[in-house]
Amino acid sequence: MTDRIVILTGAGLSAESGLDTFRSAGGVWSQVRLEDVATPEAFARDPARVHAFYNARRQGAAAVDPNAAHKALARLQKNHPGAVTIVTQNVDSLHEAAGAQVIHMHGQLDQALCAACNHRWPAPIEMQPHQTCPNCGQQTTRPDIVWFGEIPYHMERIDAVLSDATLFAAIGTSGQVYPAAGFVEIAAAAGARTIELTLEPSAVSQLFDETDHRKATEAVPAWVDRLLAG
Ligand code: APR
Repeated sequence: MTDRIVILTGAGLSAESGLDTFRSAGGVWSQVRLEDVATPEAFARDPARVHAFYNARRQGAAAVDPNAAHKALARLQKNHPGAVTIVTQNVDSLHEAAGAQVIHMHGQLDQALCAACNHRWPAPIEMQPHQTCPNCGQQTTRPDIVWFGEIPYHMERIDAVLSDATLFAAIGTSGQVYPAAGFVEIAAAAGARTIELTLEPSAVSQLFDETDHRKATEAVPAWVDRLLAG
């Protein structure tokens, strides 16, 4: 296989590990308003409520295991060192638990961030409001999560790999949040073949060359087996 592959993953990849997606039936945004827990304004208004939301998600993510789809992606990356870039919107660490290296464009639940000096350190399972930053001593600690209205991380690196891709896959994402939902167009414009592996068609399914609308634990191992055989 000589492909240069870029894989974008979303909440649907972790669904069969037991973590809620955001927009499927009963998803996170049907349980709580994102305006109350996932914006800088929400954090400024009520840091205790925002920390409580991410503390619960951090505990949930720490209690589950990677599934066959996470493991298949790690196997693909191991079989083709340097040729497979995984960009995740997910803030859990299930890719890493499966042995993969990933780019977290929306941050990570198990990281804390100082809003004053940008210092990052492993988040305690229960973060509290106004915690002191171990680096600068100010009480400006927050979850290291990219909130709505903030700029995703690592965008220069992501744009570079998308523009050089020969194959782009979107796995378990509804294609409703940009810039991630636009990655397929960047890859296709660079001449990449594109495939969508989600349980239901996404908002951008029509932009993909190929789709496989099955559960990730069925579709992803089958896709990886095809790539490794080819
Ligand atoms: N296997 C494969 N796909 C699945 C499965 C499954 N078992 N279960 C659900 N899906 C698919 C759904 O069909 C949907 O397309 O996963 C997708 C989940 O979509 P969302 O809940 O919108 O999650 P995501 O696309 O990752 O959200 C993007 O929005 O709220 C923000 O920052 C948050 O990173 C998140 C971003």
